[in-house]
Amino acid sequence: MKTRTLGELEVPAIGYGAMVLSPGIYGEVDDARGEAAIKAALDAGATHVDTSDAYGPDGHNERLVGRAIKGRRDEVVVATKFGLAVPEGEPSRAHPVGYAFGELHVNAEPRLVRRYAERSLRNLGIDAIDLYYLHYPDPGVPIEDTVAAMAELVRDGLVRHIGLSNVTAGQVRAAHAVHPVTAVQYEWSMWRPIDAELLAATRELGVGIVAWSPLGNGFLTGTVTELGVDDFRHNAPRFSAENLTRNNDRYAPVKDLAALLGITPAQLALAWLLHQDEHVVPIPGSRTPAHIEENLAAADITLHPDTLARIDEALSRFEVSGGTLL
Ligand SMILES: NC(=O)c1ccc[n+]([C@@H]2O[C@H](COP(=O)([O-])OP(=O)(O)OC[C@H]3O[C@@H](n4cnc5c(N)ncnc54)[C@H](OP(=O)(O)O)[C@@H]3O)[C@@H](O)[C@H]2O)c1
Repeated sequence: MKTRTLGELEVPAIGYGAMVLSPGIYGEVDDARGEAAIKAALDAGATHVDTSDAYGPDGHNERLVGRAIKGRRDEVVVATKFGLAVPEGEPSRAHPVGYAFGELHVNAEPRLVRRYAERSLRNLGIDAIDLYYLHYPDPGVPIEDTVAAMAELVRDGLVRHIGLSNVTAGQVRAAHAVHPVTAVQYEWSMWRPIDAELLAATRELGVGIVAWSPLGNGFLTGTVTELGVDDFRHNAPRFSAENLTRNNDRYAPVKDLAALLGITPAQLALAWLLHQDEHVVPIPGSRTPAHIEENLAAADITLHPDTLARIDEALSRFEVSGGTLL
């Protein structure tokens, strides 16, 4: 697969997000299917695998990734995150999010950073994390302090590159002054524009962008018409039965464009993202090898400027029902 650079780290143009492989997120999945999905992603060239200590109970997702990459560690760029899976007995602070449950709880105090990293290394069964992100900034801790503790992990060889997730332009600037930031992970897709100031700051600083939920939690594949029971999207207003029907109707012109181009809506969504910036790397998630291959093929799709203009025009008329945040 074609490659891109995030700061100084070279990765495939499209990576793989493993969150979908933990229970209670996008419905039914078991570990055998999960492990097979990660191996299918690696075999197809998506060797940048994104996980977190907060996906699934008790490091479930990291342990699954660890099992899947066993014996092929050198092929893989392992990215994980910390801050949300707060150790028992430690305090935490609320970070607001758009889901119905309203907030996440974060502790990114410097004194805990090494403990988080060592736990993730154990879960993953590796000696060093290639890209280690602060999952959400802690409202009670200056980001410079958290990043200074992350820099110590780089110094000591536990971590190779530092990332930040869900941050503002100001936060990435402040962090970068303490230690170079390799990537910012941010929700960015056809139905969630990136913050313009954040994009400008990353370009100026030479920081890459990793686009999370690049398929709009599956919506942009055009295949989501109802949700199963064990599915966290029940908490997302955009996926309420009424809004989902409305959003699918309004998204139809974009799907039609994909059909005209002879590609799938998922491929159009990923190719569109790749054309927004040369340092953006989407990390779609899937439990299904056929979907994984379909998604990765988007790395080879070139969209003509006229086509991009038509997509942008269709997107400007795509009024999403259910709030601006998922
Ligand atoms: N930093 C953060 O705060 C944050 C937050 C959320 C996510 N993330 C990262 O971003 C990654 C991706 O995000 P995501 O999993 O939320 O959303 P996504 O990649 O936008 O969508 C995943 C959903 O799309 C479906 N899908 C994928 N390819 C498909 C295809 N070709 N056709 C039909 N359906 C398809 C999957 O179902 P199937 O399994 O059926 O294919 C799954 O339900 C996560 O794994 C995680 O690593 C980070």
